[in-house]
Amino acid sequence: SSGNFFVGGNWKSNGSKDSVSKLVKDLNSSKFPSDVDVIVAPTFLHLPYVVDNIDPRYQVSAQNCWVGKAGAYTGEIAPEQLLDLGLQWVILGHSERRSLLKESNEFVGEKTANALAQGLKVIACIGETLEQRESDQIYDVLDGQLSGIADRIADWENVVVAYEPVWAIGTGKVATPDQAQEVHAYIRKWLSEKVSSKVAGATRIIYGGSVNDKNSAELAGKEDVDGFLVGGASLQAASFATICNAN
Ligand code: G3H
Repeated sequence: SSGNFFVGGNWKSNGSKDSVSKLVKDLNSSKFPSDVDVIVAPTFLHLPYVVDNIDPRYQVSAQNCWVGKAGAYTGEIAPEQLLDLGLQWVILGHSERRSLLKESNEFVGEKTANALAQGLKVIACIGETLEQRESDQIYDVLDGQLSGIADRIADWENVVVAYEPVWAIGTGKVATPDQAQEVHAYIRKWLSEKVSSKVAGATRIIYGGSVNDKNSAELAGKEDVDGFLVGGASLQAASFATICNAN
């Protein structure tokens, strides 16, 4: 495993002013070890409230950002604006955006390069669909997603790779610890061969897809599982705290 254990809570398009303020209050009284990096990713609307009110033990992330600088790009938010608000992180390439918004490997790579260049850290998401897994395309798909990023960045220091098999996201069908370990080891080998052994050794590779307070400890026990990206279970502070203590 590599670096501090890393747990991200991706709140997706969930939350109201009331529910977010309750969640922040509950998170502020949750306990986790000081050597675990814990990140929460609210909607753009809730970011200012969360940045101002969450305990500084947490770092804050956006769920997306624009591919360039701020300017005449209706509806978009640029990395420099997220930094100005006090954020450190952005999630890019989530499968929901790849599938629903047709974000390509190249576009995700461009956004990653732009976010890093402006000073954000990136949680870069990759993962195959069930159909791709069952037709033995899994490693071609992952290669393409990784290359989209690796072709456009030189420095991986501020990148966390999130492996999220699409069939496990929001389905309750979590990958088995062995399934997760197999793919994480593949990703680390890919980084070693295509980038460098130093980057492969230092980059955190986290798992996402139906992680909860019951299955997180066994997954965390796997050698190449360096943390989690959590959706549904991150909306409940108690479950999320258990996951943050899973390592
Ligand atoms: O970014 C988080 C993943 O999409 C996982 O979501 O934990 O609700 O399955 P989930």
